[in-house]
Amino acid sequence: MGSKSNVRRRAANSRRTARGQRNGAERGAAAGKIMRNAAGKPSPSRGVRRRRSFSQQNLALETEGALGSLLGEALRTPEAEGYILTHAFHPYPGRFHYLLPRTVLAAITRPGERVFDPFMGGGTTLVEALQQGLPALGNDLNPVAVLVARERTRLRTPTEARMVTAEAQRIAVQVEALRREKHPPRMEQRFQHRLAAHYQPHLLAELMQWMRLIEALPDDDRRETLRAVFSSAAVKFSNLAADSQQGVPRSSRIAKPIGKGAASRFLVDKCGELTRAQAALAKRIAPETPPAELYGEDARLLPSLGWGAVDCILTSPPYPGTYDYYAQHRLRMDWLGLDGQALLEGEIGARRDRPAGRGDDSWSAALGDTLLTLARVLRPGGALALAMGDWISADHAVDARAALTRIAQRGPWRLESRASVRRAVHSRKEKKAYAKRGKWEHLLLFTRLAAAEGTAQGGRGRPRPPPGT
Ligand SMILES: C[S@@+](CC[C@H](N)C(=O)[O-])C[C@H]1O[C@@H](n2cnc3c(N)ncnc32)[C@H](O)[C@@H]1O
Repeated sequence: MGSKSNVRRRAANSRRTARGQRNGAERGAAAGKIMRNAAGKPSPSRGVRRRRSFSQQNLALETEGALGSLLGEALRTPEAEGYILTHAFHPYPGRFHYLLPRTVLAAITRPGERVFDPFMGGGTTLVEALQQGLPALGNDLNPVAVLVARERTRLRTPTEARMVTAEAQRIAVQVEALRREKHPPRMEQRFQHRLAAHYQPHLLAELMQWMRLIEALPDDDRRETLRAVFSSAAVKFSNLAADSQQGVPRSSRIAKPIGKGAASRFLVDKCGELTRAQAALAKRIAPETPPAELYGEDARLLPSLGWGAVDCILTSPPYPGTYDYYAQHRLRMDWLGLDGQALLEGEIGARRDRPAGRGDDSWSAALGDTLLTLARVLRPGGALALAMGDWISADHAVDARAALTRIAQRGPWRLESRASVRRAVHSRKEKKAYAKRGKWEHLLLFTRLAAAEGTAQGGRGRPRPPPGT
């Protein structure tokens, strides 16, 4: 972050850059084509200019500090919501809009600074860091997040993109031939009984043939890409509801029969979209930018990252009691043979923990531990940006800004700037809980204090430097 004048200079520069980038991105999104879904209907996904949903409206803005208005700009939900480049690949609940990290990183980083997202999800922060020529590091305890982030940050030449898609087309032809020959699918699948419960029989057979042929691919990169493409379809073709509500069976009204070959067509299309996006991303990244480094560790521990390993952190922590990433991704882990045990045991804020009484208190403790670990891996003077919205706990609204500020006070953090945007509320429950002060989303920017600067509470919880420094 540096001195105040530094902060102001960066604020002025980045306001210009971020505005230019935002306008460019929005124009790109508006010019995009309407995508079609497996059933041939227009699907409101990539590149489509959609109106902001009501819940995302920007009703009011509060700012504090030198970078407050810039953070407000980052938090403002844009009119055009189309996801561009690899951001569009694979559903991932609770993700950032890519303009948030784009705007924030342009404001708070210097050339060459290492950017880290300890709860990277699908890797939105990383994709944006790479485009700004910044070394990008990401971490998530969910193995599906690592799979998705790897593809979203993977770069390809257009020729490679075509070759991978040709591989997918070849598999589709083989799957169709096996279907015509009535060849029963054969594969080692530890959780086959669980999978069988979620698919129409012909779809299960089609998907099992795909998985077997993908796993047989000799090339590691192509196999990984196709595994991720498969993952993007695994829930869509199941009898489970959308990703944000996984674990909830679809109602019979929604569970329409899906035709033979539909999954194959979808997988080939997805592979084409992804690999073309990877090639387009590659063109926007300076050749000297190192590939993203990905970790699958508990953010409270991060054993692979040393003292001062990164210069800047931008993340959105898991909310208390809102999502259950393990349940949401279990079907994918079953298909792909990914080990979800660490996520099952270590997921922060999981909804499944609420009934057991491990609600907001355990979330606060976990986030406190995470911030201490982040103080170890972030160099002194480095910036930490946290994005989070208010939530409801036991029918009462909880102010995320107050909660995060309180937790940060236990470590070597100084709040520099902040922006909060007021969002609309919908349900009766929300209207009641947020009646007094409204529902807000916040973006807080802290500086990692150097040891000599002490902490807000006299150093309690300050991380110790490693021996010999
Ligand atoms: C709000 S999401 C982040 C979404 C991300 N900003 C994006 O744009 O895709 C929070 C993430 O925290 C991860 N998570 C939960 N507990 C964790 C832990 N103990 N260590 C590391 N990651 C964890 C979840 O798997 C989830 O991907």
